[in-house]
Amino acid sequence: MKKFSQRHLLGIKDITANDIQLVFETADNFKSIINRPIKKVPSLRDVTIANVFFENSTRTRISFELAQKRLSADIVNFSASSSSVSKGETLVDTVNNILAMKVDMVVMRHPAPGACQFLAKHVKAQIINAGDGTHEHPTQALLDAYSIREKLGGVKGKKVVIVGDITHSRVALSNIICLKKLGAEVMVCGPTTLIPKYITSLGVKVEHNLMNALEWCDVANMLRIQLERQDIKYFPSLREYSMLYGLDKDRLNSLSKEIVIMHPGPINRGVEITSDVADSKHAIILDQVENGVATRMAIMFLLAGVSELERLVQTERLVACMPEVLVRVSFLKKN
Ligand code: CP
Repeated sequence: MKKFSQRHLLGIKDITANDIQLVFETADNFKSIINRPIKKVPSLRDVTIANVFFENSTRTRISFELAQKRLSADIVNFSASSSSVSKGETLVDTVNNILAMKVDMVVMRHPAPGACQFLAKHVKAQIINAGDGTHEHPTQALLDAYSIREKLGGVKGKKVVIVGDITHSRVALSNIICLKKLGAEVMVCGPTTLIPKYITSLGVKVEHNLMNALEWCDVANMLRIQLERQDIKYFPSLREYSMLYGLDKDRLNSLSKEIVIMHPGPINRGVEITSDVADSKHAIILDQVENGVATRMAIMFLLAGVSELERLVQTERLVACMPEVLVRVSFLKKN
């Protein structure tokens, strides 16, 4: 059996192209399962997962919860706003208290870059990063690349432009690393103030003219302006940003070829993308959301597989007389 190389999913930078392909192949199986009348499989029975969200989320949170339910995991949801964090409890204390209730895996979103790496060093559970500040959003990048693969038949050699607020976007960074690992060509496009100088060191092209970028690409991933992360003004007004970098039907129709439109959500309709483009046949925005469930099922399944084997090997030593466990251990070892 091919195995995921990491115990945690903290960022795309930590995983290999083989890991990503393994996630895609596993997600293919789960996608066919969740489109059946009976969508549930027992793969994560007896695995307990805590969803710990210190920041708002719609898609990621619901997608993880649905994926866990489809895999028959036991789940507990934690939201910072209704917890004892407001009374001054630290991140490690909060999570260790949750783990004391025998939790195997933690899915965490946190506003601080590096929060998941910190947690992985200090607690025993497996950690999945559901977005840490301006740093990484690895499951978003995996579901985005999976959606490109599904729509265009592959990722290698495809030209993908990421448009907008690159400086404050964890989606941009994880997407760039993921797409480059899979052999895509990547460009970023936006105002100079929203493109960090280091970005060319990741092997991406930079373009400040939206029409040039759209003519170049096969796929345009339109990002939201992250106003909540901007402490100063990076452009004069949203209206001006929209005039220069917003994607509307006129711009789309003036291209010499058809392109695929993506958006990680939440959309600011009329700013980075107009409604007629977001709802058009060119957009795969809701396919991305659908693929999020299968992709996240694959990730949790693969991560649990590593720990399940470790756990069963331990059990084999302790309870050598249990034939059921031994059969399962030898199956996992063989495959
Ligand atoms: N794409 C994404 O992370 O959306 P949410 O913030 O709603 O989870």
